[in-house]
Amino acid sequence: SKNPIIIQGPMPIEAENLAKRLDSVKVEKSGTFVFYKGTLDGYPVIVAKTGKGMENTAAATAIAIERYKPSAIINQGTSGGHDADLNVYDIVLGKRTVNLGALKTTSKLAGEGIDPTTWIPMDLMASEGSAGEDPNAEKARYYEGDAELLAAAHAVKDTYKKGKVVEGTIGSADVWNNEVDRINWFHEKFGSSVEEMEGAAAAQMAKAYDVPFLGIRVLSNNKVNGGKYDPKTAAANQEYVYEVVKKYIAQN
Ligand code: 5AD
Repeated sequence: SKNPIIIQGPMPIEAENLAKRLDSVKVEKSGTFVFYKGTLDGYPVIVAKTGKGMENTAAATAIAIERYKPSAIINQGTSGGHDADLNVYDIVLGKRTVNLGALKTTSKLAGEGIDPTTWIPMDLMASEGSAGEDPNAEKARYYEGDAELLAAAHAVKDTYKKGKVVEGTIGSADVWNNEVDRINWFHEKFGSSVEEMEGAAAAQMAKAYDVPFLGIRVLSNNKVNGGKYDPKTAAANQEYVYEVVKKYIAQN
């Protein structure tokens, strides 16, 4: 039998529509993580409801890799825009995914205050030594989206009618940024197209086990251009991801 494709969604509204579209579903749980094991076009597919945030996602990803030996992982859901050209309902394919919470501050003495715009991206995977002391760690770590998954996503772009589908950089951290100047700082420093709270954690685990990975994120809000939050974007993204997975299966 073939190794399954895993599709992750953090919130119920980001996972359950996809789970409903699988055939012969069996539900398995580990801790708070829910795995809907089924098939799509006869091919094994597992929808994972991970819960929100980096920690839940890293754990749910590592557990799923150990348990199910997936051939590929897609992390998908909603996001907030970091790019004024992207509107609510547009979809970003994660050409790269990056942890926006991995930062080193500059050095200041007591009373000298805090200055977030001077903070430096930090790469925890640069070496096995201290990231705080290693000059090679003073950079962001980008996880590349898998070329075959990206190709499948591009091949079905036209099925998505609610917005445009573009490649970009997905930024992750357990933070919801509402300060536009801070969002612009991430956009410039990290090149982020959107922010969410899971992708980089899943990408890091996928990389640790060499499993092909892609993040696919719909904008549910965009503070930069006034795009109001719309929870129905979560269902729209799942419709598109369903087409991507069908295409990927057809090619494999
Ligand atoms: N900032 C951070 N996370 C966001 N999400 C949607 N929009 C944003 C945003 N602007 C997603 C996260 C998390 C939940 C809060 O929604 O990935 O799962």
